[in-house]
This record gives sequence, C-alpha cells and structure tokens, in this order.
Amino acid sequence: MQERLKQILEESKRQLQEAASVQDAEDVRVKVLGKKGQLTEILRSMGKLAPEERKELGQAANQVRSEVEKMLDETFENLKSKAREAKFKAEKIDVTEPGKLYKLGTKHPVTITIEEISRVFKSMGFTLTEGPEVETVFNNFDALNAGPNHPARDWTDTFYVNDDVLLRTQTSPVQVRTLMNQKPPIRVFAPGRCFRCDTPDATHSPMFHQVEGLVVDEGITMADLKGVLDSFAKQMFGPEARTKFRPHHFPFTEPSAEMDVSCFKCGGKGCKVCKGSGWIEILGCGMVHPNVLKVGGIDTEKYTGFAFGMGVERIAMLKYGIDDIRLLYENDMRFIEQFK
Ligand code: DAH
Repeated sequence: MQERLKQILEESKRQLQEAASVQDAEDVRVKVLGKKGQLTEILRSMGKLAPEERKELGQAANQVRSEVEKMLDETFENLKSKAREAKFKAEKIDVTEPGKLYKLGTKHPVTITIEEISRVFKSMGFTLTEGPEVETVFNNFDALNAGPNHPARDWTDTFYVNDDVLLRTQTSPVQVRTLMNQKPPIRVFAPGRCFRCDTPDATHSPMFHQVEGLVVDEGITMADLKGVLDSFAKQMFGPEARTKFRPHHFPFTEPSAEMDVSCFKCGGKGCKVCKGSGWIEILGCGMVHPNVLKVGGIDTEKYTGFAFGMGVERIAMLKYGIDDIRLLYENDMRFIEQFK
C-alpha cells in the first residue's frame, strides 16, 4: 500500500509538471482526489484494516493528499498567470501607433441645395414640414383639383402601389395634408423626394427632389407671391438676380405662373446655361385654387393663399454647372466632393 501511495505521488507530480492547461491539471485532480479518485479509494478502503495499520497508512495517505493538493494549487496558479500573460500580450495596445485616418464624406449637392433653399424660407418665417413619399391618389391628385381624367394620372406616368396609393409625383400633396391639419395663418415649406415613370436621361430621373411652399392667410394676393419669390431668388442667386412671371397652368392654382430668374451665369446677356435667352425657369407657382382650400375646410371668402414648387436637382445643376442629372445619383465621391 505504501508503495502504491508513493506511486500515486510520483505520477501526480510528473503529470502536473507536464500539464499545459488548467484542464490538464483539473484532470489530474479528478483522477487522484475526485469522488472515485485513486487516493479517495485508498482512504475509503482503510476501514477494513486493523487499527494499527490504519493509523500508519492514514498518516501516509493524508501526507500524500496534502502534497498533491499543494502541487495542484501551485500548478493552477502557475497556469492561470501564464494564461493571463498570454492574454495581455495578445491584447497589447501600442499607444504610439499612428491613428487610422477615417475618410469623412461630404454633403451631397442636392442636400446642400435643399439646405440653402430652407435657410432662405426659414428667414422669411416659413416653417419646415414634411409628407410621406408613399401617398394616396386622393392627396396627390384629386384633392389638388386633378380629376380622374387628368393626363398626369396615367398609369405610364406614375408609380402606383395600388388603385388608391402611389409614389407621390410632386411635393404638392403636402399642401393638402397641411390644409387638413392646420388653420390659417399658414406659412410652410416642404422639401422631399418625388417619383415619376421617366426613362433616365441627362435631364430626367424617375426619382428627384422638390421643395413645395404654401401660404394661406387673410388678404394674401399675387403681390405677396411675387414679393416672396423675388426675394427668394435674390437671396438664393445674388442681389442682382431679376425675376419674371409667365402665365401657366396647374390644376391646383388659379391664376398659375412659372417664374424665371435672370441667368446667374451671364446676368441676362445670353449664354449656354440659359440657352441664349438670358432667363432660367426655376419654379411653378400660383394662387391656391378655391377647390384645394375647400378640401381643408377653409373659408374661401375669408382666406386666400399662394403656393409654389421647385425642382431641387434643376437648381443644383444650374448653380453648379452639372450637365447630367444622372451624375447626382452615382455616388461617386470624386464627383460629390467637388461641392463642399
Ligand atoms: N407640383 C408642380 C409640379 O410638380 C409644381 C408646382 C406648381 C407646385 C405650382 C406648386 C404650384 O405649389 O403652385 O410640376
């Protein structure tokens, strides 16, 4: 028996020396001191021995046990600190290493243009508002006085989701939402995306941006419309910018007009940008049609209003001399970076 104890001690010692991981050491502990461990079995079997023999062997066995325990403690400690060291080494941070340069993007020219337009209208007391890109056919057409036979409603001109829902073709439905939710005085502008079934070319894109404007109050006249939009043109394109209004037709305004700005490239003399005319068409506008005001339950005897809508890409392209609208959607940083 003494011999066996010695053997257990020697074997444990050797195995613990060879242990490469905490698990290896744990295996030794279970093998020797576990419930069915070698030493545990010996200690358990001692009840069968004579008292004299039991005492002697008991002492020897306890001695081996405490030695094995001590070796186990040391081995565990050793392996744990080795593991810790390895972890530290692996996670070491070199604080002197130069930082990684993160390349910051830049604002998109369409965003810059929307922000410039917004700044001007905010300065004139307009409030920013928004509407959804997925709209009802009612808000996009019917409520804007474009009845069932209006050509813009054609299936080939508009992205329909179903008979009653579409991707808005203009930001004008925000007028309808505003009139339904607010009481005059109203003074809002609404930038946003619009969608039309257009084949992309240098001047057309099936997705584009507009900024809508709406003013409703007592005593609003065409003079207010002209004053506000002329002031907008001067703040947007420079104090020397001049404007002119040409009669036009929109179903939701009466009278309707298009506004031209004196060419900001040549100042009106005529150049490539203005195609020799000296003028550039910039937006549609008009006095809000009574039928539209009525949708919002507004008393058309008491209140009048004006509205306008402009294409953001068109303004950005003219301002920055971009000759193909598709460049705006390619997300080529070499292009976008130029408009910082
Ligand atoms: N929604 C028109 C379009 O997409 C633009 C427009 C014209 C908006 C006149 C207006 C307006 O608010 O009064 O062509």
